[in-house]
Amino acid sequence: MSINESRKELLGIIKDVKSYVKLEKKSGVEYIAAAGKGRAGLSEVRKEVFSCKACPLHKTKTNYVFSDGSETAKLMFVGEAPGADEDLQGVPFVGRAGQLLTKMIEAMGLKRRDVYICNVLKCRPPGNRSPLPEEVRACKGYLVRQIDIVSPKVICCLGKHAAQALLDTDVPITKVRGKEMEFNGKLMIPTYHPAYLLRNPPAKKEVWEDLKKIMKILSED
Ligand code: URA
Repeated sequence: MSINESRKELLGIIKDVKSYVKLEKKSGVEYIAAAGKGRAGLSEVRKEVFSCKACPLHKTKTNYVFSDGSETAKLMFVGEAPGADEDLQGVPFVGRAGQLLTKMIEAMGLKRRDVYICNVLKCRPPGNRSPLPEEVRACKGYLVRQIDIVSPKVICCLGKHAAQALLDTDVPITKVRGKEMEFNGKLMIPTYHPAYLLRNPPAKKEVWEDLKKIMKILSED
């Protein structure tokens, strides 16, 4: 077969695949493009994170902490940064605050594997200090790409650092908690961080109100 004939055949195959995908999409099937794009996209971001040296935190961390849960989730939780347990295991929200987050997810009638969980920072700040503005700036691009690729219906920011990082302001969490906001065309609802709830259990009542609001939005498909 000549080069021209092979090229023609290849173009024919591409045309066939395109019309097949178009037909599937017309009949409501979104997963072909979505799954392909999603997985390839996230594994690329993960790969970049796992060799990131954009701020000094990579020198003191044990593991990069990328995400947990479903890459096609409708609900995404964004925390602040890995703590000691997360740093050791390389998985977000597995310590005491993480166990409470798991209970919150289950109270919503979901499992951890149904939602996507990640943090603003992918490396643990030493001694669990708060993220520095320059660390947030260095790391935020990864989170923005995770949000874009997972494309959840609702982003739930856990605590002030996640909310402030995405809103790009220093607004207090009390001012935005439970409010329907927007990030890059996605609905975003901040709530209190589970670590705060461990220190201040009465605030669980307000968080439950926020979670119920999210459940209602998720059920309206
Ligand atoms: N706190 C966070 O913000 N993220 C984690 O992964 C664990 C605790």
